[in-house]
Amino acid sequence: MCGIVGYIGTRDCANVLLEGLSMLEYRGYDSAGVSIFEGDCVRTIKSQGRLADLKAKMEKEGIPAGHCGIGHTRWATHGVPSDVNSHPHCGNKVSVVHNGIIENYTEIKEFLLSKGYSFDSQTDTETVAKLLDYNYQGDPFAAIQNTLRQIRGSYALGILFYDCPDKLFAVRKESPLIVGLGEGENFIASDIPAILKYTRNYYLLEENEVATLTKEGITVCDLDGAPIQKELLTATWDIAAAEKGGFPHFMLKEIFEQPAALQNTVSPRVKDGHIDLAIPLTESQLAGFKQIHIVACGTAMHAGIVGKYLIEKLARTPVNVDVASEFRYRDPILDKDDLVVIISQSGETADTLAAMRLAKQRGAHTLAVVNVVGSSIAREADSVLYTWAGPEIAVASTKAYTVQLSIMYLLAFKLAACKGTIDAAQEADYVAQLCAIPQLLEKVLETSSRYEELAKQYMHAEDMFFIGRGLDYALSQEGSLKLKEISYIHSEAYAAGELKHGTISLITDDMPVIALGTQQRLLEKMVSNIKEVKARGANVLFICYEGYEGADEFADNVIYLPLSSDIFAPLASIIPLQLFAYYISSLKGCDVDKPRNLAKSVTVE
Ligand code: F6R
Repeated sequence: MCGIVGYIGTRDCANVLLEGLSMLEYRGYDSAGVSIFEGDCVRTIKSQGRLADLKAKMEKEGIPAGHCGIGHTRWATHGVPSDVNSHPHCGNKVSVVHNGIIENYTEIKEFLLSKGYSFDSQTDTETVAKLLDYNYQGDPFAAIQNTLRQIRGSYALGILFYDCPDKLFAVRKESPLIVGLGEGENFIASDIPAILKYTRNYYLLEENEVATLTKEGITVCDLDGAPIQKELLTATWDIAAAEKGGFPHFMLKEIFEQPAALQNTVSPRVKDGHIDLAIPLTESQLAGFKQIHIVACGTAMHAGIVGKYLIEKLARTPVNVDVASEFRYRDPILDKDDLVVIISQSGETADTLAAMRLAKQRGAHTLAVVNVVGSSIAREADSVLYTWAGPEIAVASTKAYTVQLSIMYLLAFKLAACKGTIDAAQEADYVAQLCAIPQLLEKVLETSSRYEELAKQYMHAEDMFFIGRGLDYALSQEGSLKLKEISYIHSEAYAAGELKHGTISLITDDMPVIALGTQQRLLEKMVSNIKEVKARGANVLFICYEGYEGADEFADNVIYLPLSSDIFAPLASIIPLQLFAYYISSLKGCDVDKPRNLAKSVTVE
């Protein structure tokens, strides 16, 4: 939700901010703005719409020429997307960019109204700007300190005080913020890609740490003003990883990165055919968990559903999968014998983070499966398994999902080996099969042009159904989400055996039904379900293994996947579903990487 960036140095600040914002647009893209010191005066330009609209406005009004400033790209929470609700928000003495939500903003607004302040926007952020203004008596730190003591909620803030043209201030609580260290220049940003072009060295701000940046250096202190010695971190991603590299969209690039991402995630955890998760849990602790909860949102939750099937099948431990926004408020039954697996690409999703905190409070062991190193979830969990997908920029998750799946496999094999429900030879065999998956994915990707052809046939549909049984049902849910979020075609995923309990009434002539048939054990039953929808006029696109004969008799189109075993099928069958959604979206002319109303990192509940 929202991206913030700030710069102080000798470069053209406008350019650095716009470039940084372009790398953060995935966090929100309904409006954008900058405040830049031009000499001793701050100029603020902001615009509803994409970054391109802001650029055009800046060109029209004259690009501010300066070397210190802050910028913002917005995903609206309080107040519609509009010029006036865009950030930065300003007082008489300050300019502020904000990512997060100020919970007590109405209270603060009333207080400030009583002090004679007036408000232009409907945002919560404007109250922070005006409160800073009210608290500012010439000492920026004291103003920040007093303001933070009055506001409640989540925030990453970048702040300019108009009478301090050689300083940039930043603070965070619950929303991500890094401080980039350059030579003769320094940066703040919501995420690493925004500064990668200039530096790979950065500090992670902890809760309520205040950073003061000049072009010569960075100081960090706590809210009482005590200086803090920060550990300097180095990003392992390079700028190429955060750029499109010749692909028309990040989503397509990220789909093609899946074999490498999977290999990077799996191979460091395999030693001599066995799994070494390198987490602070002994084998007997792993074997001793009575119950496992997997908690996540959206695509990450879908990876958890696959995890449930795998863990229950192999390790015979009961697994609940929960949507984080429900889990956190439903008073879940948890105790110290439970393992709570938290899955999150960004590591910042507000509901997922809150669910994890609840699980910790109740004494369960929390194991985070996270892609972004140093993110809040990764830092607070008892154990972390990083997925090594590299930066995922497209809003629709693809490679992060696949690597989350790969961790589900490793976890299921490990738990099963620790519990003795599989023996060492079976573990080695499963591990060998998992290690061979990247080659299998390469083979599936070789046939990508086929999906463009299929997309042409199905792109005009208004509704679609995805059906499957067992692991195929888990995949159907992800396939359906991928399609609807980026192509705006309404779609539903159903357990194939459940259709006849109501939903089949929606199957009419030519209704596309994407049917998955990779589970050999359930194939006959699946085929019966397909025939049921076919008999009611559906246009069936069937996904099954090479060598399956007879599919042409009941399906309108068939996708044949290279043979794998039932248990590993999701890793291969997700690719057709991703490519199908991608090409439909792209052929329809949708904004594939930035679908409407969405944001990559959902840091509000
Ligand atoms: C859909 C998608 C979302 C995320 C969800 C959780 O393509 O990406 O459903 O999976 O918002 O985000 P993370 O994994 O960052 O917690």
